[in-house]
Amino acid sequence: MIYDHPWAYELACEFRDIPAEVDALLGWCASPPTSVLELAAGPAEHAREFARRGIEATALDLNAVMCAYAEDQARQAAVRLKVVHDDMTNFDLGRTYDLVVTMLDSTAHLMTLDAMVAHFDRVAEHLAPDGRYILEMSHPSDRLTDDHRVSSTWDFRQEGLTGEVSWGEPGDVLDPITQIVEEHVTITVTREDRTEIVQGVVPYRFWTATELTAAIRLSGRLQIEFQFGDFAGVPLTSPKAWRMITVLHPR
Ligand SMILES: C[S@@+](CC[C@H](N)C(=O)[O-])C[C@H]1O[C@@H](n2cnc3c(N)ncnc32)[C@H](O)[C@@H]1O
Repeated sequence: MIYDHPWAYELACEFRDIPAEVDALLGWCASPPTSVLELAAGPAEHAREFARRGIEATALDLNAVMCAYAEDQARQAAVRLKVVHDDMTNFDLGRTYDLVVTMLDSTAHLMTLDAMVAHFDRVAEHLAPDGRYILEMSHPSDRLTDDHRVSSTWDFRQEGLTGEVSWGEPGDVLDPITQIVEEHVTITVTREDRTEIVQGVVPYRFWTATELTAAIRLSGRLQIEFQFGDFAGVPLTSPKAWRMITVLHPR
């Protein structure tokens, strides 16, 4: 499983500008948050950045290896991060947060409508009255049209290493009934003296924009405030849009 190799996953995602994304997330809040919960946080890069800025941050993930990695990275950076090993469809932390976020299409790991509704229910339970839930998903054009907004292969480079990522192969076809695809992922990392290859199959469930709205209405506890197509705030309908970012508040 790719997520059992957090270091490789984090390298593969190094194309993101985490501080700029956190700036955007903060800008979409009603008022500056004092507490943040990141769900399906993986290495918790955003939660760590919130913590670095002095905001009380909690990261939750289902994968114990990811949780340990997030804790370790926070410790090394000397930032205070609480890490919770739990399921984003079934958690109870007994408190609320000013901001809850789920980044990089992690809700694609929720395979059924019931799971998505349960997720929204749990989020609503943990949101302060004036809080915001910000959910980043892939842009639906990637799955519904030939006008793909992101590439499924890319390279990365850091001091002392180079790498390649292939997230999905041509034979990985979305099941038209379940909207689930088993994506074959390969992350290749080359250092001076060796090459490491991390491979795995990641199940992905495609959510359309209208299904998302339906799941939010079914949960009955959250309402859409804005939708954007990227972290600069382009409209979701823009040809430049490459993400589907939804800002929600409690009803
Ligand atoms: C694509 S990674 C994204 C990690 C992180 N959101 C980011 O932006 O880098 C997806 C993460 O979702 C986690 N995950 C999958 N199903 C989950 C669930 N039901 N509850 C909590 N975490 C889950 C996986 O363990 C993995 O760390």
